[in-house]
Amino acid sequence: MLIRYKKAFEKIAMGLLSFMPNEKDIKKLQQTIKQYENEENWQLFLWKIEDDVIGLIGVQLKDQLVEIQHISVNPSHRNQGVGKNMLKSIKQIYEGKTILPNEYTAAFCENCNDEEL
Ligand SMILES: CC(C)(COP(=O)(O)OP(=O)(O)OC[C@H]1O[C@@H](n2cnc3c(N)ncnc32)[C@H](O)[C@@H]1OP(=O)(O)O)[C@@H](O)C(=O)NCCC(=O)NCCS
Repeated sequence: MLIRYKKAFEKIAMGLLSFMPNEKDIKKLQQTIKQYENEENWQLFLWKIEDDVIGLIGVQLKDQLVEIQHISVNPSHRNQGVGKNMLKSIKQIYEGKTILPNEYTAAFCENCNDEEL
């Protein structure tokens, strides 16, 4: 289930974000999480199964566009469809808008078929 980020999940969210190749630097990571906390057009979501947060997806809203900025799944839960399910949920949340990847999420997003994105 996709839930909205809350400050209580900051540590787990930073851990998941750090799997992104462009979020290896701790300063950059802190900046990114602040951006999601403070800027209305940056929205962060977490994938929760029972009490475990195992995935993260973050978007930037630009009028009719929704750009996927970050997507990450805990290594122990990969290749089980969590990434694709997070994309599907984002599509439902932002129904009617155009969902696009950015340069850092394109490889995975473009691997998903039209049903997911
Ligand atoms: C990318 C990521 C979120 C996928 O999550 P997941 O839950 O394992 O994805 P799913 O189970 O829904 O889908 C698995 C498919 O994605 C593919 N995939 C995984 N990582 C990929 C990548 N970086 N680029 C392209 N395809 C990728 C798998 O090969 C698999 O393909 P298949 O269905 O043809 O066998 C996860 O691998 C991850 O967290 N990676 C580190 C963070 C990262 O690099 N994010 C940006 C990715 S561009």
